[in-house]
Amino acid sequence: MGKVNENVLTVFDVGSAKTCVLVLDVSDGGFQYRGHGVRESRGTRKGQIVDLEKASASIQKAVDDAESIAQIPIERGIVGVAGPHIRGINSQGGIALGQRAREVTREDVKAAVERARSIPLPGDREVLHLLPQEFMIDEQSGVHDPAGMMARSLEVRVHVVTAAQTSTQNVVTAMNRAGIHVDDVIFEPLACADSVLRSDEREVGVCLADIGAGSTDVIVYYEGAVVHTAVIPVGGDHFTNDIAIGLPTPLSEAEKIKKQFGCAVVTRIPEPNEVEVSSVGDRPSKLIAQRFLGEILEPRARELFEMLRDNLRQAGVLELCGAGLVMTGGGSRMPALMEIAEDILRRPGRGSLPARLGYPAPIANMPSELAELEFATTIGLAYYGHRTRLQRHQQDAGLASRLKSLFARREF
Ligand SMILES: Nc1ncnc2c1ncn2[C@@H]1O[C@H](COP(=O)(O)OP(=O)(O)OP(=O)(O)O)[C@@H](O)[C@H]1O
Ligand SMILES: [Mg+2]
Repeated sequence: MGKVNENVLTVFDVGSAKTCVLVLDVSDGGFQYRGHGVRESRGTRKGQIVDLEKASASIQKAVDDAESIAQIPIERGIVGVAGPHIRGINSQGGIALGQRAREVTREDVKAAVERARSIPLPGDREVLHLLPQEFMIDEQSGVHDPAGMMARSLEVRVHVVTAAQTSTQNVVTAMNRAGIHVDDVIFEPLACADSVLRSDEREVGVCLADIGAGSTDVIVYYEGAVVHTAVIPVGGDHFTNDIAIGLPTPLSEAEKIKKQFGCAVVTRIPEPNEVEVSSVGDRPSKLIAQRFLGEILEPRARELFEMLRDNLRQAGVLELCGAGLVMTGGGSRMPALMEIAEDILRRPGRGSLPARLGYPAPIANMPSELAELEFATTIGLAYYGHRTRLQRHQQDAGLASRLKSLFARREF
Protein backbone atom coordinates (compact mmCIF):
# COMPACT_ATOMS: atom_id res chain seq x y z
CA MET A 1 0.00 0.00 0.00
CA GLY A 2 1.43 3.36 -1.05
CA LYS A 3 1.89 6.20 1.42
CA VAL A 4 -0.66 8.95 1.93
CA ASN A 5 -0.80 11.38 -1.00
CA GLU A 6 -1.02 14.71 0.83
CA ASN A 7 -2.61 16.37 -2.21
CA VAL A 8 -5.63 14.11 -2.20
CA LEU A 9 -8.17 13.20 0.48
CA THR A 10 -10.77 10.46 -0.03
CA VAL A 11 -13.67 9.84 2.33
CA PHE A 12 -16.20 7.01 2.48
CA ASP A 13 -19.71 6.91 3.92
CA VAL A 14 -21.03 3.34 3.95
CA GLY A 15 -24.64 4.02 4.93
CA SER A 16 -27.65 1.73 5.23
CA ALA A 17 -29.21 3.19 2.07
CA LYS A 18 -26.28 4.47 0.04
CA THR A 19 -22.52 4.13 -0.21
CA CYS A 20 -20.65 7.33 -1.11
CA VAL A 21 -17.07 8.06 -2.03
CA LEU A 22 -15.84 11.65 -2.24
CA VAL A 23 -12.42 12.65 -3.57
CA LEU A 24 -10.90 16.05 -2.73
CA ASP A 25 -7.90 17.93 -4.10
CA VAL A 26 -5.97 19.35 -1.15
CA SER A 27 -3.73 22.41 -1.45
CA ASP A 28 -2.30 25.07 0.87
CA GLY A 29 -5.41 27.16 0.38
CA GLY A 30 -7.81 24.38 1.44
CA PHE A 31 -9.55 21.70 -0.59
CA GLN A 32 -11.91 21.31 -3.51
CA TYR A 33 -14.10 18.67 -5.12
CA ARG A 34 -12.37 16.26 -7.49
CA GLY A 35 -14.85 13.41 -7.93
CA HIS A 36 -17.48 11.26 -6.26
CA GLY A 37 -19.44 8.02 -6.59
CA VAL A 38 -22.78 7.05 -5.04
CA ARG A 39 -24.32 3.58 -5.17
CA GLU A 40 -27.17 1.91 -3.40
CA SER A 41 -25.83 0.03 -0.34
CA ARG A 42 -26.15 -3.72 -0.31
CA GLY A 43 -25.41 -6.09 2.52
CA THR A 44 -26.10 -3.51 5.25
CA ARG A 45 -28.93 -3.49 7.74
CA LYS A 46 -29.67 -1.00 10.52
CA GLY A 47 -26.30 0.66 10.03
CA GLN A 48 -24.28 -2.54 10.24
CA ILE A 49 -22.78 -4.84 7.64
CA VAL A 50 -24.56 -8.18 7.41
CA ASP A 51 -23.09 -9.39 4.09
CA LEU A 52 -19.43 -8.55 3.45
CA GLU A 53 -19.42 -9.54 -0.23
CA LYS A 54 -22.41 -7.37 -1.08
CA ALA A 55 -21.17 -4.42 0.98
CA SER A 56 -17.72 -4.48 -0.63
CA ALA A 57 -19.28 -4.78 -4.11
CA SER A 58 -21.23 -1.54 -3.45
CA ILE A 59 -18.07 0.17 -2.23
CA GLN A 60 -16.19 -1.07 -5.30
CA LYS A 61 -18.84 0.29 -7.68
CA ALA A 62 -18.90 3.69 -5.95
CA VAL A 63 -15.08 3.74 -6.12
CA ASP A 64 -15.17 2.94 -9.86
CA ASP A 65 -17.55 5.86 -10.46
CA ALA A 66 -15.43 8.22 -8.35
CA GLU A 67 -12.21 7.13 -10.10
CA SER A 68 -13.63 7.80 -13.53
CA ILE A 69 -14.59 11.36 -12.53
CA ALA A 70 -11.48 12.08 -10.44
CA GLN A 71 -9.13 10.42 -12.96
CA ILE A 72 -6.89 9.00 -10.23
CA PRO A 73 -6.75 5.56 -8.63
CA ILE A 74 -8.34 5.43 -5.16
CA GLU A 75 -6.39 3.23 -2.75
CA ARG A 76 -7.05 4.61 0.72
CA GLY A 77 -9.20 6.95 2.74
CA ILE A 78 -11.12 7.60 5.92
CA VAL A 79 -14.46 5.94 6.62
CA GLY A 80 -17.42 6.95 8.74
CA VAL A 81 -19.23 4.57 11.07
CA ALA A 82 -22.51 4.86 12.97
CA GLY A 83 -25.31 2.59 14.11
CA PRO A 84 -26.78 1.33 17.37
CA HIS A 85 -23.53 -0.34 18.49
CA ILE A 86 -21.96 3.07 19.22
CA ARG A 87 -22.03 4.39 22.80
CA GLY A 88 -20.89 7.69 24.26
CA ILE A 89 -20.02 8.31 27.91
CA ASN A 90 -18.49 11.14 29.89
CA SER A 91 -15.38 10.45 31.94
CA GLN A 92 -12.82 12.34 33.98
CA GLY A 93 -9.16 11.81 34.79
CA GLY A 94 -6.06 13.65 35.81
CA ILE A 95 -2.44 13.71 36.91
CA ALA A 96 -0.45 15.38 39.67
CA LEU A 97 2.35 17.59 38.35
CA GLY A 98 4.30 17.96 41.61
CA GLN A 99 4.45 19.78 44.95
CA ARG A 100 5.42 23.02 43.25
CA ALA A 101 3.64 24.49 40.23
CA ARG A 102 5.32 23.88 36.91
CA GLU A 103 4.55 24.45 33.23
CA VAL A 104 2.02 22.02 31.72
CA THR A 105 3.48 20.27 28.66
CA ARG A 106 1.69 18.65 25.69
CA GLU A 107 2.80 15.29 27.11
CA ASP A 108 1.06 16.11 30.43
CA VAL A 109 -2.12 16.91 28.51
CA LYS A 110 -1.90 13.59 26.67
CA ALA A 111 -1.25 11.72 29.93
CA ALA A 112 -4.28 13.32 31.62
CA VAL A 113 -6.52 12.46 28.66
CA GLU A 114 -5.19 8.88 28.72
CA ARG A 115 -6.15 8.65 32.42
CA ALA A 116 -9.68 9.74 31.55
CA ARG A 117 -9.74 7.02 28.92
CA SER A 118 -9.05 4.23 31.38
CA ILE A 119 -12.64 3.26 32.03
CA PRO A 120 -13.65 -0.39 32.23
CA LEU A 121 -14.85 -1.52 28.79
CA PRO A 122 -16.39 -4.89 27.95
CA GLY A 123 -13.92 -6.98 25.92
CA ASP A 124 -15.66 -6.47 22.60
CA ARG A 125 -15.61 -2.67 22.68
CA GLU A 126 -13.01 -0.18 21.53
CA VAL A 127 -12.53 3.56 21.94
CA LEU A 128 -13.21 5.45 18.70
CA HIS A 129 -12.80 9.01 19.99
CA LEU A 130 -11.59 10.79 23.11
CA LEU A 131 -13.06 14.28 22.97
CA PRO A 132 -11.79 16.69 25.65
CA GLN A 133 -14.53 18.95 27.05
CA GLU A 134 -12.60 21.06 29.53
CA PHE A 135 -9.44 21.01 31.59
CA MET A 136 -9.07 21.89 35.25
CA ILE A 137 -5.72 23.15 36.53
CA ASP A 138 -5.52 23.16 40.32
CA GLU A 139 -8.94 24.58 41.28
CA GLN A 140 -9.59 26.47 38.06
CA SER A 141 -12.09 24.87 35.66
CA GLY A 142 -13.13 25.80 32.12
CA VAL A 143 -9.60 25.80 30.66
CA HIS A 144 -9.54 25.01 26.92
CA ASP A 145 -5.81 24.54 26.32
CA PRO A 146 -3.70 24.15 29.47
CA ALA A 147 -0.34 23.64 27.66
CA GLY A 148 2.10 26.31 28.79
CA MET A 149 0.13 27.26 31.94
CA MET A 150 1.55 26.81 35.48
CA ALA A 151 -0.13 24.23 37.71
CA ARG A 152 0.33 21.52 40.35
CA SER A 153 -2.41 19.27 39.04
CA LEU A 154 -4.17 18.76 35.74
CA GLU A 155 -7.58 17.17 35.26
CA VAL A 156 -9.69 16.73 32.16
CA ARG A 157 -13.31 15.91 31.40
CA VAL A 158 -13.73 13.92 28.18
CA HIS A 159 -16.49 12.43 26.11
CA VAL A 160 -15.55 8.88 25.14
CA VAL A 161 -17.14 7.33 22.03
CA THR A 162 -16.89 3.54 21.93
CA ALA A 163 -17.90 1.04 19.28
CA ALA A 164 -18.37 -2.72 19.01
CA GLN A 165 -15.05 -3.97 17.62
CA THR A 166 -16.73 -6.50 15.35
CA SER A 167 -18.95 -3.85 13.73
CA THR A 168 -16.11 -1.45 12.93
CA GLN A 169 -13.91 -4.36 11.87
CA ASN A 170 -16.59 -5.45 9.39
CA VAL A 171 -16.60 -2.01 7.78
CA VAL A 172 -12.79 -2.09 7.53
CA THR A 173 -12.87 -5.61 6.07
CA ALA A 174 -15.50 -4.64 3.48
CA MET A 175 -13.32 -1.66 2.50
CA ASN A 176 -10.20 -3.85 2.30
CA ARG A 177 -12.03 -6.35 0.12
CA ALA A 178 -12.88 -3.47 -2.21
CA GLY A 179 -9.13 -2.78 -2.38
CA ILE A 180 -9.17 0.24 -0.06
CA HIS A 181 -6.85 0.79 2.89
CA VAL A 182 -8.59 2.50 5.84
CA ASP A 183 -6.53 5.31 7.37
CA ASP A 184 -9.05 6.28 10.02
CA VAL A 185 -12.53 5.39 11.31
CA ILE A 186 -14.72 8.34 12.35
CA PHE A 187 -18.02 8.42 14.26
CA GLU A 188 -20.25 9.98 11.59
CA PRO A 189 -22.14 12.66 13.56
CA LEU A 190 -18.82 14.15 14.64
CA ALA A 191 -17.95 14.58 10.95
CA CYS A 192 -21.47 15.65 10.03
CA ALA A 193 -21.28 18.48 12.57
CA ASP A 194 -18.37 19.96 10.63
CA SER A 195 -20.49 20.50 7.52
CA VAL A 196 -23.75 21.46 9.19
CA LEU A 197 -23.33 23.26 12.53
CA ARG A 198 -22.29 26.85 13.08
CA SER A 199 -19.76 27.58 15.78
CA ASP A 200 -22.20 29.85 17.66
CA GLU A 201 -24.68 26.95 17.84
CA ARG A 202 -21.99 24.70 19.32
CA GLU A 203 -21.23 27.33 21.95
CA VAL A 204 -24.85 28.00 22.97
CA GLY A 205 -25.77 24.30 22.90
CA VAL A 206 -27.25 22.30 20.03
CA CYS A 207 -28.44 18.81 19.15
CA LEU A 208 -27.65 17.45 15.68
CA ALA A 209 -29.77 14.51 14.51
CA ASP A 210 -28.75 12.69 11.30
CA ILE A 211 -31.89 10.78 10.30
CA GLY A 212 -30.55 8.08 8.00
CA ALA A 213 -32.16 4.92 6.67
CA GLY A 214 -31.28 2.57 9.53
CA SER A 215 -30.85 4.88 12.51
CA THR A 216 -30.82 8.44 13.78
CA ASP A 217 -27.34 9.41 14.90
CA VAL A 218 -27.17 12.13 17.52
CA ILE A 219 -24.51 14.48 18.85
CA VAL A 220 -24.91 17.33 21.34
CA TYR A 221 -22.50 20.26 21.71
CA TYR A 222 -22.37 22.71 24.60
CA GLU A 223 -19.80 25.45 25.16
CA GLY A 224 -18.06 24.26 22.01
CA ALA A 225 -17.49 20.68 23.20
CA VAL A 226 -19.22 17.33 22.64
CA VAL A 227 -21.26 16.53 25.75
CA HIS A 228 -23.41 13.66 24.46
CA THR A 229 -23.60 11.17 21.60
CA ALA A 230 -26.33 8.59 20.98
CA VAL A 231 -27.86 6.45 18.29
CA ILE A 232 -31.67 6.15 18.19
CA PRO A 233 -32.55 2.87 16.47
CA VAL A 234 -35.20 4.43 14.21
CA GLY A 235 -34.55 5.78 10.70
CA GLY A 236 -36.27 6.26 7.36
CA ASP A 237 -36.51 2.52 6.72
CA HIS A 238 -38.89 2.14 9.67
CA PHE A 239 -41.30 4.60 8.02
CA THR A 240 -41.08 2.63 4.76
CA ASN A 241 -41.73 -0.67 6.55
CA ASP A 242 -44.78 0.79 8.27
CA ILE A 243 -46.22 1.83 4.89
CA ALA A 244 -45.46 -1.59 3.35
CA ILE A 245 -47.32 -3.33 6.17
CA GLY A 246 -50.09 -0.76 6.60
CA LEU A 247 -51.28 -0.49 3.00
CA PRO A 248 -50.08 -3.30 2.22
CA THR A 249 -47.68 -2.87 -0.70
CA PRO A 250 -44.16 -4.12 -1.62
CA LEU A 251 -41.22 -2.34 0.08
CA SER A 252 -39.96 -0.74 -3.14
CA GLU A 253 -43.41 0.75 -3.79
CA ALA A 254 -43.73 1.87 -0.15
CA GLU A 255 -40.39 3.71 -0.46
CA LYS A 256 -41.59 5.50 -3.62
CA ILE A 257 -44.93 6.47 -2.07
CA LYS A 258 -43.23 7.73 1.09
CA LYS A 259 -40.89 10.00 -0.87
CA GLN A 260 -43.62 11.31 -3.17
CA PHE A 261 -46.63 11.62 -0.87
CA GLY A 262 -45.37 11.15 2.69
CA CYS A 263 -46.15 13.80 5.32
CA ALA A 264 -45.55 13.52 9.07
CA VAL A 265 -48.63 15.51 10.16
CA VAL A 266 -52.04 14.11 9.14
CA THR A 267 -53.83 17.47 9.33
CA ARG A 268 -51.35 19.06 6.91
CA ILE A 269 -52.70 16.78 4.13
CA PRO A 270 -55.75 18.15 2.24
CA GLU A 271 -58.69 15.85 3.02
CA PRO A 272 -59.73 14.96 -0.56
CA ASN A 273 -56.20 13.94 -1.75
CA GLU A 274 -55.87 10.38 -3.03
CA VAL A 275 -52.84 8.24 -3.90
CA GLU A 276 -52.63 5.24 -6.23
CA VAL A 277 -50.99 2.21 -4.61
CA SER A 278 -49.87 -1.09 -6.22
CA SER A 279 -51.04 -4.09 -4.24
CA VAL A 280 -49.02 -7.15 -3.22
CA GLY A 281 -49.21 -10.03 -5.76
CA ASP A 282 -51.25 -9.55 -8.96
CA ARG A 283 -54.24 -7.81 -7.43
CA PRO A 284 -55.13 -4.49 -9.14
CA SER A 285 -53.81 -1.22 -7.76
CA LYS A 286 -56.12 0.85 -5.57
CA LEU A 287 -56.71 4.43 -4.50
CA ILE A 288 -56.20 5.39 -0.89
CA ALA A 289 -56.68 8.67 0.95
CA GLN A 290 -53.34 10.45 1.36
CA ARG A 291 -54.39 11.14 4.95
CA PHE A 292 -54.32 7.39 5.56
CA LEU A 293 -50.62 7.52 4.64
CA GLY A 294 -50.21 10.34 7.15
CA GLU A 295 -51.95 8.24 9.81
CA ILE A 296 -49.29 5.56 9.28
CA LEU A 297 -46.35 8.00 9.32
CA GLU A 298 -47.29 10.40 12.13
CA PRO A 299 -47.08 7.87 15.03
CA ARG A 300 -43.63 6.72 13.83
CA ALA A 301 -42.44 10.33 13.58
CA ARG A 302 -43.74 11.00 17.11
CA GLU A 303 -42.04 7.85 18.38
CA LEU A 304 -38.71 8.92 16.88
CA PHE A 305 -38.74 12.33 18.58
CA GLU A 306 -40.10 10.92 21.86
CA MET A 307 -37.16 8.53 21.91
CA LEU A 308 -34.79 11.41 21.13
CA ARG A 309 -36.37 13.60 23.85
CA ASP A 310 -36.16 10.81 26.47
CA ASN A 311 -32.57 10.07 25.50
CA LEU A 312 -31.54 13.73 25.82
CA ARG A 313 -33.45 14.11 29.07
CA GLN A 314 -31.91 11.01 30.64
CA ALA A 315 -28.45 12.27 29.71
CA GLY A 316 -29.30 15.65 31.26
CA VAL A 317 -28.56 17.55 28.04
CA LEU A 318 -32.03 18.56 26.81
CA GLU A 319 -31.79 21.73 28.91
CA LEU A 320 -28.45 22.57 27.30
CA CYS A 321 -29.74 22.76 23.71
CA GLY A 322 -30.53 26.47 23.68
CA ALA A 323 -29.78 26.74 19.94
CA GLY A 324 -32.24 23.90 19.32
CA LEU A 325 -32.27 20.90 17.02
CA VAL A 326 -30.61 20.61 13.63
CA MET A 327 -31.97 17.77 11.50
CA THR A 328 -30.16 16.29 8.53
CA GLY A 329 -29.88 13.00 6.60
CA GLY A 330 -32.30 11.71 3.96
CA GLY A 331 -34.97 10.95 6.55
CA SER A 332 -35.26 14.63 7.49
CA ARG A 333 -36.69 15.38 4.02
CA MET A 334 -40.14 14.25 5.08
CA PRO A 335 -42.54 17.21 5.00
CA ALA A 336 -43.79 18.46 8.41
CA LEU A 337 -41.25 16.41 10.38
CA MET A 338 -39.94 19.64 11.86
CA GLU A 339 -43.38 20.42 13.27
CA ILE A 340 -43.43 17.10 15.13
CA ALA A 341 -39.89 17.71 16.40
CA GLU A 342 -40.83 21.14 17.79
CA ASP A 343 -44.02 19.77 19.31
CA ILE A 344 -42.22 17.01 21.21
CA LEU A 345 -38.83 18.47 22.08
CA ARG A 346 -39.97 20.85 24.81
CA ARG A 347 -38.03 22.05 27.82
CA PRO A 348 -40.11 22.49 30.97
CA GLY A 349 -40.98 26.15 31.40
CA ARG A 350 -39.00 27.22 28.34
CA GLY A 351 -41.09 26.03 25.40
CA SER A 352 -40.04 23.96 22.43
CA LEU A 353 -36.56 23.71 20.95
CA PRO A 354 -36.34 25.58 17.65
CA ALA A 355 -35.62 23.17 14.79
CA ARG A 356 -33.94 23.73 11.44
CA LEU A 357 -32.75 21.59 8.54
CA GLY A 358 -28.98 21.17 8.27
CA TYR A 359 -27.78 21.40 4.67
CA PRO A 360 -24.07 20.73 4.16
CA ALA A 361 -21.77 23.71 3.60
CA PRO A 362 -20.75 23.35 -0.06
CA ILE A 363 -17.23 22.42 -1.12
CA ALA A 364 -15.62 24.39 -4.00
CA ASN A 365 -16.50 22.92 -7.43
CA MET A 366 -18.93 20.44 -5.89
CA PRO A 367 -21.84 19.40 -8.17
CA SER A 368 -25.19 20.70 -6.97
CA GLU A 369 -26.62 17.18 -6.53
CA LEU A 370 -24.38 16.76 -3.46
CA ALA A 371 -25.81 19.85 -1.75
CA GLU A 372 -28.57 17.73 -0.20
CA LEU A 373 -29.41 16.61 3.32
CA GLU A 374 -28.38 12.97 2.71
CA PHE A 375 -24.83 14.06 1.83
CA ALA A 376 -24.25 16.13 4.98
CA THR A 377 -22.25 13.31 6.59
CA THR A 378 -20.20 12.49 3.47
CA ILE A 379 -19.31 16.17 3.03
CA GLY A 380 -18.71 16.48 6.77
CA LEU A 381 -16.18 13.65 6.54
CA ALA A 382 -14.25 15.79 4.03
CA TYR A 383 -14.20 18.81 6.37
CA TYR A 384 -13.32 16.62 9.35
CA GLY A 385 -10.61 14.70 7.47
CA HIS A 386 -9.02 17.91 6.20
CA ARG A 387 -9.18 19.64 9.59
CA THR A 388 -7.63 16.74 11.49
CA ARG A 389 -4.91 16.30 8.87
CA LEU A 390 -3.98 19.99 9.26
CA GLN A 391 -3.96 19.65 13.07
CA ARG A 392 -1.68 16.63 12.82
CA HIS A 393 0.72 18.56 10.58
CA GLN A 394 0.74 21.49 12.99
CA GLN A 395 1.50 19.15 15.90
CA ASP A 396 4.24 17.43 13.90
CA ALA A 397 5.67 20.83 12.98
CA GLY A 398 5.49 21.85 16.66
CA LEU A 399 7.27 18.65 17.67
CA ALA A 400 9.91 19.12 14.97
CA SER A 401 10.65 22.68 16.07
CA ARG A 402 10.74 21.60 19.75
CA LEU A 403 13.19 18.83 18.87
CA LYS A 404 15.24 21.31 16.87
CA SER A 405 15.44 23.73 19.80
CA LEU A 406 16.26 20.83 22.13
CA PHE A 407 19.13 19.78 19.89
CA ALA A 408 20.15 23.40 19.45
CA ARG A 409 20.33 23.78 23.23
CA ARG A 410 22.42 20.63 23.51
CA GLU A 411 24.88 21.93 20.99
CA PHE A 412 25.59 25.02 23.06
N1 LIG B 1 -38.37 12.78 0.37
C1 LIG B 1 -38.17 11.92 1.37
N2 LIG B 1 -39.11 11.76 2.33
C2 LIG B 1 -38.94 10.88 3.32
N3 LIG B 1 -37.84 10.11 3.46
C3 LIG B 1 -36.88 10.23 2.53
C4 LIG B 1 -36.97 11.14 1.45
N4 LIG B 1 -35.85 11.04 0.69
C5 LIG B 1 -35.08 10.09 1.29
N5 LIG B 1 -35.68 9.61 2.38
C6 LIG B 1 -35.21 8.54 3.29
O1 LIG B 1 -33.94 8.82 3.75
C7 LIG B 1 -33.27 7.58 4.07
C8 LIG B 1 -31.89 7.60 3.47
O2 LIG B 1 -31.16 8.62 4.10
P1 LIG B 1 -29.57 8.64 4.05
O3 LIG B 1 -29.13 8.60 2.63
O4 LIG B 1 -29.15 9.80 4.87
O5 LIG B 1 -29.28 7.26 4.77
P2 LIG B 1 -27.89 6.46 4.98
O6 LIG B 1 -26.83 7.44 5.31
O7 LIG B 1 -27.63 5.57 3.83
O8 LIG B 1 -28.29 5.57 6.22
P3 LIG B 1 -27.67 5.48 7.70
O9 LIG B 1 -27.14 6.83 8.02
O10 LIG B 1 -28.82 5.08 8.58
O11 LIG B 1 -26.62 4.43 7.63
C9 LIG B 1 -34.12 6.46 3.47
O12 LIG B 1 -34.83 5.81 4.49
C10 LIG B 1 -35.06 7.23 2.54
O13 LIG B 1 -36.31 6.59 2.42
MG1 LIG C 1 -25.97 8.21 7.00
